[in-house]
Formats: sequence, structure tokens, C-alpha cells
Amino acid sequence: MKSPVNVAITGAAGQIGYALAFRIASGQMLGADQPVNLHLLEITPALGALQGVLMELNDCAFPTLNKIVATDDAKIAFKDCHAALLVGARPRGPGMERKDLLLANAQIFSVQGKALDEVADRNVRVLVVGNPANTNSLIAQRNAPNLNPRNFTAMVRLDHNRALAQLAEKTAVHSTRIRKTTIWGNHSSTQYPDLHHTLVDGKPALSLVEQSWYADTFIPVVQQRGAAIIKARGQSSAASAASAAIDHVRDWVNGTPEGDWVSMGVPSDGSYGIPEGVIYGYPVTCKNGDYQIVQGLDLNEFSRQRLDATHKELLEERDGVKDLI
Ligand code: NAD
Ligand code: LMR
Repeated sequence: MKSPVNVAITGAAGQIGYALAFRIASGQMLGADQPVNLHLLEITPALGALQGVLMELNDCAFPTLNKIVATDDAKIAFKDCHAALLVGARPRGPGMERKDLLLANAQIFSVQGKALDEVADRNVRVLVVGNPANTNSLIAQRNAPNLNPRNFTAMVRLDHNRALAQLAEKTAVHSTRIRKTTIWGNHSSTQYPDLHHTLVDGKPALSLVEQSWYADTFIPVVQQRGAAIIKARGQSSAASAASAAIDHVRDWVNGTPEGDWVSMGVPSDGSYGIPEGVIYGYPVTCKNGDYQIVQGLDLNEFSRQRLDATHKELLEERDGVKDLI
């Protein structure tokens, strides 16, 4: 039997946390042969609700769940953790942009970055889900100078999965037969869902759909999907967000399939003309527990403008929290 992996989830009694904890505990993220210790973090007023989550987790008698720690102390939650899913943060309501949450949530990621720096496993993999995810991830990274900066990532996988779903519906081909789709940039309405390299059953996606559908329907639908869910449900996406978080960490740890890539928000390294200093959605492949940004993709003028526009927004967000980084 493998030794248990410590997985921290913040905001574990919230909507996403509630969906996430059970799937991780049942082995859907790290595998059916990998025991996990769940470290659940909440704010003090939510500890009662968190106790209920803990009771339900125990009641599932999952073979892969080894131990649960439930706490309101980040240093206990992050102690020796190998993976940290930073979900706990305020969600937006109708009419808000995700960057409107910046000041409300930024402090959380500064405190948690410091706690990770102090007590987490030195190779901890961090996924920030709480919005605005890219900039929150940057804040956590900058407050954890002793950890590997590459290991601070942000979730654009939900956007990636949404793009697959839209294209699958349009082309009447199952999403498993779609390859090489990218979400560039910010998890926000400036993100750029790029189909220029996408293959549907081996054929270029843009040869199967009209350019007007791509530019005027597909891109805005993916960019605005979070707002559409809030309008329909009265609350922001939760089960699909948890599912995307599982996909992100699973692929990072276990690798991406040959001939495909996924989208992850990772520290920019100059690739595709995006200078270091932001957490940016890129196409990545994963192998041996690490990720690499896919290199050498052609970008036409249509794409270039969109990559730069979403980068500009990330710089504005970064300026808004300069005291914390
Ligand atoms: P929620 O309000 O249901 O749950 C958030 C939980 O976090 C609450 O239980 C709250 O008590 C807890 N929390 C707040 N501050 C905390 C702290 N300092 N430490 C630990 N826990 C804390 O919200 P939700 O629907 O679960 O969404 C959580 C976040 O995820 C929001 O910011 C939302 O916008 C974001 N989100 C991101 C994506 C993405 O694709 N990146 C998708 C969906 C939602
Ligand atoms: C989403 O994309 O569903 C989340 O980021 C929630 C939101 O505010 O849109």
C-alpha cells in the first residue's frame, strides 16, 4: 500500500469544497490505490458546518480516505501538505466581474501563502480556485519565497472543459475526441479560448465551424459561462468547478495523454511574449509530476491581440494588489 498523501482544501464547507472533498476522498483525483489524508480549512464561524462535512466523509467509509484534519488554523491545515487546493474565498454575485473580488479576497491568499511557506511540504503543488484565481495565485506565490514558484498555479481548466463542451455540441463529436484546445490568460471575461490548433477527430476544428460562430458565439459563450451559470442557478458554479480542480491536479500529477495538452494557469516565463510576473493560462503537457508550456505554436494577429488583452488585465489586477506582493 502506498503511504498517504496530504491534501489540503480551503473553504471546505463551501459549495465547491463540499463537492471536492468527497471526490478526492474517494480516489478520483490521485487514484484508487492512493490513500489520502484530507486537511480541511475553514473560517471559525464555519467550523460547525465543517464538522458536518467531516461526519459525512467518515460515513462514506471510502477505502482511500486515511485521516481527516478539520481546522481554522492554516498552519495546521497546510502542515506537510503535498497538494493545496485554495478554494476558500468569496464568490461573485450577479452583475459582478471576478476582479471585483480582488480586494475582498486578496488578504486571504497573502496569509495562506505565508502559512504554506512555513509548513507545507517543500514540493507542495498549489492550485488556486478562489477568484480572481490568477492574481490570488500570484499573491500566494509571492508570499511563499521558500517554495518552488512554478508550483503555484491557477484554475483555467473549467474554461478549458467548457470550451470542449461547446465545440463537442457544435460538431456533434464527443469531447474525448477533441485535442489541443487552449485557454490563454486570465480566468475572466478577457480569457482567450483558442481553437486554432484544435483537432476534432483529427481534423482542424476551424475547418468544421464558421469563423463567425467561432468569433461571435463560441468565444463569448466560454468567456461568459460563469456569469450565465450564476444567472441560472443564483449561485456560482460548484460541481463543475470541483470537477475541473480534480482534472487539473490529476493531470499535473499523473500526466497528460500523448498528443494532447490541457490549459493551466502557470507563472509566465516569457513564452509567447508574456513576460514573467503573472500567472497566465497556457497550453501545457504534464509528465513525471511536472508541467511544461507547449512551445512553438503559431499565433496570428487575431490571437496575438487577444493574448495581449488578457495579459493587460492581469497587469491591472497585479497593480491593484501591489502592497501584497
Ligand atoms: P462558497 O461561499 O460556497 O464557499 C467559500 C467557503 O470559503 C466558505 O465556506 C467560507 O467560509 C470559506 N472561507 C472564506 N474565507 C476563508 C479563509 N480565509 N480560509 C478558509 N476558508 C475560507 O463559495 P464557492 O462557491 O465554494 O466558491 C469559492 C471560490 O471559488 C469563489 O471565489 C468563487 O468565485 C471561486 N470559483 C472559481 C472558479 C474557477 O474556475 N477558478 C470556479 C468557480 C468558483
Ligand atoms: C466560474 O467561472 O464559474 C467561476 O469563476 C465563478 C464566477 O464568478 O464566474
